[in-house]
Amino acid sequence: MEERLFNQEADLNELSFEQSLRPQNLKQYIGQDKVKANLSVYIEAARMREETLDHVLLYGPPGLGKTTLAVIIANEMGVNIRTTSGPAIERPGDLAAILSALEPGDVLFIDEIHRLPRVVEEVLYPAMEDFCLDIVVGKGPEARSIRIDLPPFTLVGATTRAGSLSAPLRDRFGVLSRLEYYTENHLTDIIIRTGRIMDTEMDDQAASELARRSRGTPRIANRLLRRVRDFAQVRGDGTITAELADYALELMQVDRLGLDHIDHKLLKGIIEKFRGGPVGLETIAATIGEEAHTIEDVYEPYLLQVGFLQRTPRGRMATQLVYDHFGLEMPER
Ligand SMILES: Nc1ncnc2c1ncn2[C@@H]1O[C@H](COP(=O)(O)OP(=O)(O)OP(=O)(O)O)[C@@H](O)[C@H]1O
Ligand SMILES: [Mg+2]
Repeated sequence: MEERLFNQEADLNELSFEQSLRPQNLKQYIGQDKVKANLSVYIEAARMREETLDHVLLYGPPGLGKTTLAVIIANEMGVNIRTTSGPAIERPGDLAAILSALEPGDVLFIDEIHRLPRVVEEVLYPAMEDFCLDIVVGKGPEARSIRIDLPPFTLVGATTRAGSLSAPLRDRFGVLSRLEYYTENHLTDIIIRTGRIMDTEMDDQAASELARRSRGTPRIANRLLRRVRDFAQVRGDGTITAELADYALELMQVDRLGLDHIDHKLLKGIIEKFRGGPVGLETIAATIGEEAHTIEDVYEPYLLQVGFLQRTPRGRMATQLVYDHFGLEMPER
């Protein structure tokens, strides 16, 4: 029990830490240049016409800044944001309550929108299209459908799996923005910015070393930086140098390319148990004791991106790069 309380507290700390680092407007939002450039045009145009912004779908791997961007969209439009998530909305009535409480122009942010139940989705269609709710009141022969008008609003949906979204839902978004893994330069800028906010001294070289090892992901960059700062405080003089970053990352089992022990388990599993593949996702998951969907959503996208994994119709395969990285000989196939 005590341990649970403890963990919850740690989670809360982590959460408020993340929030304190969130950029508040497009200018502070580093990287994702294409997404930013387009959004700023749509936002400016909507403001000039004094209309609400069209519905926006943000998709991409975890920790790239979807939630952050949703808040920024509301800030840039000068409106309030209401936040909920797909799994939290269980029944059509839940959604109706949320929608009818909106103020004109509000942003409604639905995180993990691919997890909305189908019956709820159907209520969302007319709300997105015509800003109205069709609800059935009464039962049996007495039942009738009434239409309730809603204030105009902007739906911002976020998902790590655009592919799991139903086509009718996806088609109702006017803006589809795909977030990409960050470049090393952009991550370096993010790390320097976070270091400033935390009031931590850091060498430029240390910042780029951390950037290289953050899997293209700002959330990971910020987390590693926070841990490395601990090491700098306890084992150094508080300044984060490149040597200290390297030493700390080594102890944290983050390798030169930013792969952690689960990436290693995954890749080594494919190499050692399946001669490099191809092997199905479920089989890998069972072998290394991780959930298939966690592998698919969290680990695999980056490994695919950097060319360590290949997805074939017969399953996942480890590439030559993996063998090189581990200093192993690739078997004949
Ligand atoms: N472009 C950016 N510039 C600076 N910091 C960023 C940027 N994008 C994200 N961050 C930081 O990374 C952290 C994670 O971002 P965020 O929570 O928005 O990710 P997400 O895509 O919503 O993740 P998830 O899919 O897990 O919900 C935030 O605390 C934020 O400070
Ligand atoms: Mg989020």
